[in-house]
Amino acid sequence: MIEVKGLKKYFKDVEALKGIEFHVGKGEVLGLLGENGAGKTTTLRILATMLKPDGGTIVLNGKNVVEHPQEIRKNIGILFGGESGIYDRLTARENIAYYGELNDMSKEDIKERIEHLAKIFNMEEYIDRRAGKFSKGMKQKVAIARSIIHNPSIMLFDEPTSGLDVGGARIIQQFIQTCKEEGKTVIFSSHTMSEVEKLCDRVAIIHKGTIVESGYIDDLKQKYEKDVEDLFLELVGEK
Ligand SMILES: Nc1ncnc2c1ncn2[C@@H]1O[C@H](COP(=O)(O)OP(=O)(O)OP(=O)(O)O)[C@@H](O)[C@H]1O
Ligand SMILES: [Mg+2]
Repeated sequence: MIEVKGLKKYFKDVEALKGIEFHVGKGEVLGLLGENGAGKTTTLRILATMLKPDGGTIVLNGKNVVEHPQEIRKNIGILFGGESGIYDRLTARENIAYYGELNDMSKEDIKERIEHLAKIFNMEEYIDRRAGKFSKGMKQKVAIARSIIHNPSIMLFDEPTSGLDVGGARIIQQFIQTCKEEGKTVIFSSHTMSEVEKLCDRVAIIHKGTIVESGYIDDLKQKYEKDVEDLFLELVGEK
Protein backbone atom coordinates (compact mmCIF):
# COMPACT_ATOMS: atom_id res chain seq x y z
CA MET A 1 0.00 0.00 0.00
CA ILE A 2 1.30 3.44 -0.93
CA GLU A 3 -0.20 6.66 0.43
CA VAL A 4 1.31 9.98 -0.65
CA LYS A 5 0.03 13.29 0.71
CA GLY A 6 1.19 16.85 0.07
CA LEU A 7 4.58 15.71 -1.24
CA LYS A 8 6.97 18.60 -1.92
CA LYS A 9 10.48 18.75 -3.26
CA TYR A 10 12.71 21.71 -4.06
CA PHE A 11 15.95 21.72 -6.01
CA LYS A 12 17.42 25.03 -4.90
CA ASP A 13 14.76 27.53 -6.02
CA VAL A 14 13.02 25.08 -8.39
CA GLU A 15 9.84 23.67 -6.89
CA ALA A 16 9.86 20.25 -8.56
CA LEU A 17 6.94 18.78 -6.57
CA LYS A 18 4.17 21.06 -5.35
CA GLY A 19 2.06 18.86 -3.10
CA ILE A 20 1.62 15.52 -4.89
CA GLU A 21 -1.16 13.23 -3.64
CA PHE A 22 -2.09 9.69 -4.68
CA HIS A 23 -2.59 6.22 -3.29
CA VAL A 24 -2.02 2.73 -4.64
CA GLY A 25 -3.54 -0.41 -3.17
CA LYS A 26 -2.21 -3.94 -2.96
CA GLY A 27 -2.42 -5.72 -6.32
CA GLU A 28 -2.97 -2.43 -8.07
CA VAL A 29 -0.88 -0.81 -10.83
CA LEU A 30 -0.83 2.99 -10.92
CA GLY A 31 0.45 4.64 -14.09
CA LEU A 32 2.31 7.88 -13.53
CA LEU A 33 2.04 10.01 -16.66
CA GLY A 34 3.60 13.37 -17.34
CA GLU A 35 5.67 15.19 -19.90
CA ASN A 36 9.45 15.62 -19.57
CA GLY A 37 10.35 17.39 -16.33
CA ALA A 38 6.89 16.92 -14.77
CA GLY A 39 8.30 15.28 -11.63
CA LYS A 40 7.81 11.52 -12.16
CA THR A 41 11.38 10.42 -11.48
CA THR A 42 11.66 12.77 -8.51
CA THR A 43 8.49 11.27 -7.01
CA LEU A 44 9.69 7.71 -7.54
CA ARG A 45 13.16 8.44 -6.17
CA ILE A 46 11.62 9.87 -3.01
CA LEU A 47 9.39 6.80 -2.60
CA ALA A 48 12.46 4.61 -3.04
CA THR A 49 14.23 6.55 -0.22
CA MET A 50 16.94 7.67 -2.66
CA LEU A 51 15.95 11.30 -2.16
CA LYS A 52 14.55 13.18 0.85
CA PRO A 53 11.21 14.99 0.55
CA ASP A 54 10.89 18.63 1.68
CA GLY A 55 7.28 18.31 2.78
CA GLY A 56 4.30 15.98 2.96
CA THR A 57 3.98 12.39 4.10
CA ILE A 58 4.60 9.06 2.41
CA VAL A 59 3.33 5.91 4.04
CA LEU A 60 4.32 2.56 2.56
CA ASN A 61 2.70 -0.56 4.03
CA GLY A 62 1.63 1.48 7.03
CA LYS A 63 5.11 2.88 7.73
CA ASN A 64 6.34 6.43 7.25
CA VAL A 65 9.18 6.46 4.73
CA VAL A 66 11.16 9.25 6.40
CA GLU A 67 10.97 7.61 9.83
CA HIS A 68 11.71 4.02 8.76
CA PRO A 69 13.90 4.17 5.63
CA GLN A 70 15.81 0.96 6.37
CA GLU A 71 12.72 -1.17 6.89
CA ILE A 72 10.96 0.39 3.92
CA ARG A 73 13.87 -0.32 1.61
CA LYS A 74 13.53 -4.06 2.27
CA ASN A 75 9.99 -3.92 0.92
CA ILE A 76 10.75 -2.01 -2.26
CA GLY A 77 11.97 -3.21 -5.63
CA ILE A 78 13.15 -0.68 -8.18
CA LEU A 79 13.51 -1.02 -11.92
CA PHE A 80 14.48 2.23 -13.58
CA GLY A 81 14.90 2.54 -17.35
CA GLY A 82 18.01 3.54 -19.27
CA GLU A 83 21.24 1.67 -18.62
CA SER A 84 20.57 -1.63 -16.85
CA GLY A 85 23.58 -1.13 -14.56
CA ILE A 86 24.57 -4.79 -14.88
CA TYR A 87 28.29 -5.38 -14.19
CA ASP A 88 29.87 -6.91 -17.28
CA ARG A 89 32.66 -8.60 -15.37
CA LEU A 90 30.31 -10.44 -13.06
CA THR A 91 28.16 -13.42 -13.96
CA ALA A 92 24.38 -13.11 -13.96
CA ARG A 93 24.31 -14.97 -10.63
CA GLU A 94 26.91 -12.66 -9.06
CA ASN A 95 25.07 -9.57 -10.28
CA ILE A 96 21.84 -10.76 -8.70
CA ALA A 97 23.49 -12.05 -5.51
CA TYR A 98 25.12 -8.68 -4.93
CA TYR A 99 21.69 -7.10 -4.54
CA GLY A 100 20.67 -9.86 -2.16
CA GLU A 101 23.68 -9.02 0.01
CA LEU A 102 22.78 -5.33 -0.07
CA ASN A 103 19.38 -6.36 1.25
CA ASP A 104 20.92 -8.34 4.13
CA MET A 105 19.80 -11.71 2.80
CA SER A 106 21.59 -14.84 4.00
CA LYS A 107 23.81 -16.77 1.54
CA GLU A 108 21.35 -19.69 1.58
CA ASP A 109 18.34 -17.51 0.90
CA ILE A 110 20.18 -15.81 -1.98
CA LYS A 111 21.13 -19.17 -3.48
CA GLU A 112 17.61 -20.55 -3.24
CA ARG A 113 16.01 -17.40 -4.59
CA ILE A 114 18.38 -17.23 -7.58
CA GLU A 115 17.62 -20.88 -8.48
CA HIS A 116 13.93 -19.98 -8.46
CA LEU A 117 14.35 -16.76 -10.47
CA ALA A 118 16.66 -18.40 -13.01
CA LYS A 119 13.98 -21.01 -13.59
CA ILE A 120 11.01 -18.66 -13.95
CA PHE A 121 12.91 -16.25 -16.20
CA ASN A 122 14.52 -19.03 -18.25
CA MET A 123 18.04 -17.92 -17.39
CA GLU A 124 19.42 -21.27 -16.28
CA GLU A 125 21.60 -21.66 -19.37
CA TYR A 126 23.52 -18.43 -18.79
CA ILE A 127 23.17 -17.79 -15.07
CA ASP A 128 26.89 -18.55 -14.52
CA ARG A 129 28.18 -16.72 -17.58
CA ARG A 130 29.67 -13.25 -17.42
CA ALA A 131 27.16 -10.58 -18.38
CA GLY A 132 29.51 -8.66 -20.73
CA LYS A 133 28.38 -10.48 -23.88
CA PHE A 134 24.71 -10.77 -22.98
CA SER A 135 22.07 -9.45 -25.37
CA LYS A 136 19.93 -6.55 -24.18
CA GLY A 137 17.06 -8.93 -23.41
CA MET A 138 19.30 -11.21 -21.33
CA LYS A 139 20.60 -8.20 -19.39
CA GLN A 140 17.03 -7.05 -18.93
CA LYS A 141 16.12 -10.33 -17.28
CA VAL A 142 19.11 -10.08 -14.97
CA ALA A 143 18.02 -6.55 -14.02
CA ILE A 144 14.48 -7.80 -13.31
CA ALA A 145 15.70 -10.73 -11.22
CA ARG A 146 17.99 -8.40 -9.31
CA SER A 147 15.13 -6.00 -8.54
CA ILE A 148 13.08 -8.76 -6.89
CA ILE A 149 15.80 -10.88 -5.25
CA HIS A 150 14.40 -9.82 -1.84
CA ASN A 151 10.77 -10.44 -2.88
CA PRO A 152 9.54 -6.89 -2.22
CA SER A 153 5.83 -6.16 -1.88
CA ILE A 154 6.12 -2.76 -3.58
CA MET A 155 7.56 -2.30 -7.08
CA LEU A 156 8.54 1.04 -8.59
CA PHE A 157 9.19 1.27 -12.33
CA ASP A 158 10.47 4.45 -13.95
CA GLU A 159 10.16 4.25 -17.73
CA PRO A 160 11.37 0.65 -17.59
CA THR A 161 10.80 -0.04 -21.29
CA SER A 162 12.40 3.10 -22.68
CA GLY A 163 14.96 2.27 -25.36
CA LEU A 164 14.02 -1.42 -25.52
CA ASP A 165 12.90 -3.26 -28.63
CA VAL A 166 9.49 -4.93 -28.80
CA GLY A 167 10.75 -8.17 -27.28
CA GLY A 168 12.57 -6.45 -24.43
CA ALA A 169 9.57 -4.27 -23.67
CA ARG A 170 7.33 -7.35 -23.68
CA ILE A 171 9.52 -9.06 -21.06
CA ILE A 172 9.12 -6.05 -18.77
CA GLN A 173 5.39 -5.70 -19.40
CA GLN A 174 4.83 -9.36 -18.59
CA PHE A 175 6.85 -8.91 -15.43
CA ILE A 176 4.69 -5.97 -14.35
CA GLN A 177 1.59 -8.07 -15.02
CA THR A 178 3.03 -10.87 -12.85
CA CYS A 179 3.76 -8.40 -10.04
CA LYS A 180 0.12 -7.35 -10.14
CA GLU A 181 -1.12 -10.93 -10.11
CA GLU A 182 1.10 -11.67 -7.12
CA GLY A 183 -0.63 -8.85 -5.24
CA LYS A 184 2.27 -6.42 -5.23
CA THR A 185 1.68 -2.69 -5.12
CA VAL A 186 3.01 -1.21 -8.35
CA ILE A 187 3.71 2.26 -9.72
CA PHE A 188 5.07 2.70 -13.16
CA SER A 189 5.85 5.76 -15.24
CA SER A 190 5.82 5.68 -19.00
CA HIS A 191 5.47 7.87 -22.06
CA THR A 192 3.91 5.01 -24.03
CA MET A 193 0.14 5.30 -23.79
CA SER A 194 -0.55 1.85 -25.25
CA GLU A 195 1.42 0.09 -22.49
CA VAL A 196 -0.17 2.30 -19.86
CA GLU A 197 -3.62 1.27 -21.09
CA LYS A 198 -2.58 -2.37 -21.18
CA LEU A 199 -1.09 -2.55 -17.70
CA CYS A 200 -2.58 0.08 -15.40
CA ASP A 201 -5.73 0.06 -13.35
CA ARG A 202 -5.57 3.76 -12.61
CA VAL A 203 -3.46 6.65 -13.84
CA ALA A 204 -2.30 9.87 -12.22
CA ILE A 205 -1.34 12.67 -14.56
CA ILE A 206 1.39 14.91 -13.23
CA HIS A 207 2.04 18.34 -14.69
CA LYS A 208 4.68 20.77 -13.44
CA GLY A 209 4.86 19.09 -10.04
CA THR A 210 1.10 18.77 -9.47
CA ILE A 211 -1.35 15.92 -10.05
CA VAL A 212 -3.84 17.46 -12.46
CA GLU A 213 -6.07 14.40 -12.85
CA SER A 214 -6.28 10.82 -11.67
CA GLY A 215 -8.69 7.95 -11.87
CA TYR A 216 -9.61 4.68 -13.55
CA ILE A 217 -8.74 4.73 -17.22
CA ASP A 218 -12.27 3.88 -18.34
CA ASP A 219 -13.79 6.57 -16.11
CA LEU A 220 -11.41 9.21 -17.46
CA LYS A 221 -12.13 8.20 -21.05
CA GLN A 222 -15.84 8.61 -20.37
CA LYS A 223 -15.42 11.91 -18.55
CA TYR A 224 -13.35 13.51 -21.32
CA GLU A 225 -14.87 11.53 -24.19
CA LYS A 226 -11.31 11.04 -25.45
CA ASP A 227 -8.72 8.30 -25.50
CA VAL A 228 -5.88 8.40 -22.97
CA GLU A 229 -3.40 10.08 -25.30
CA ASP A 230 -5.81 12.86 -26.25
CA LEU A 231 -6.98 13.54 -22.72
CA PHE A 232 -3.38 13.55 -21.56
CA LEU A 233 -2.49 16.16 -24.18
CA GLU A 234 -5.54 18.22 -23.25
CA LEU A 235 -4.51 18.22 -19.58
CA VAL A 236 -0.81 18.96 -20.00
CA GLY A 237 -0.95 21.00 -23.19
CA GLU A 238 -0.21 24.69 -22.97
CA LYS A 239 -3.54 26.42 -23.29
N1 LIG B 1 19.04 16.45 -9.05
C1 LIG B 1 18.36 17.49 -9.53
N2 LIG B 1 18.86 18.76 -9.38
C2 LIG B 1 18.16 19.83 -9.83
N3 LIG B 1 16.97 19.76 -10.44
C3 LIG B 1 16.43 18.54 -10.60
C4 LIG B 1 17.10 17.34 -10.17
N4 LIG B 1 16.30 16.28 -10.46
C5 LIG B 1 15.22 16.78 -11.06
N5 LIG B 1 15.28 18.13 -11.15
C6 LIG B 1 14.23 19.02 -11.73
O1 LIG B 1 12.99 18.63 -11.19
C7 LIG B 1 11.97 18.67 -12.18
C8 LIG B 1 11.32 17.31 -12.31
O2 LIG B 1 12.25 16.40 -12.88
P1 LIG B 1 11.98 14.83 -13.05
O3 LIG B 1 13.25 14.20 -13.43
O4 LIG B 1 11.31 14.34 -11.83
O5 LIG B 1 10.95 14.81 -14.27
P2 LIG B 1 10.33 13.55 -15.05
O6 LIG B 1 8.86 13.69 -14.98
O7 LIG B 1 10.93 12.29 -14.57
O8 LIG B 1 10.77 13.85 -16.57
P3 LIG B 1 11.22 12.83 -17.75
O9 LIG B 1 9.95 12.37 -18.40
O10 LIG B 1 12.00 13.70 -18.67
O11 LIG B 1 12.02 11.74 -17.16
C9 LIG B 1 12.64 19.20 -13.43
O12 LIG B 1 12.44 20.58 -13.48
C10 LIG B 1 14.10 18.86 -13.23
O13 LIG B 1 14.92 19.77 -13.91
MG1 LIG C 1 12.09 10.83 -15.46
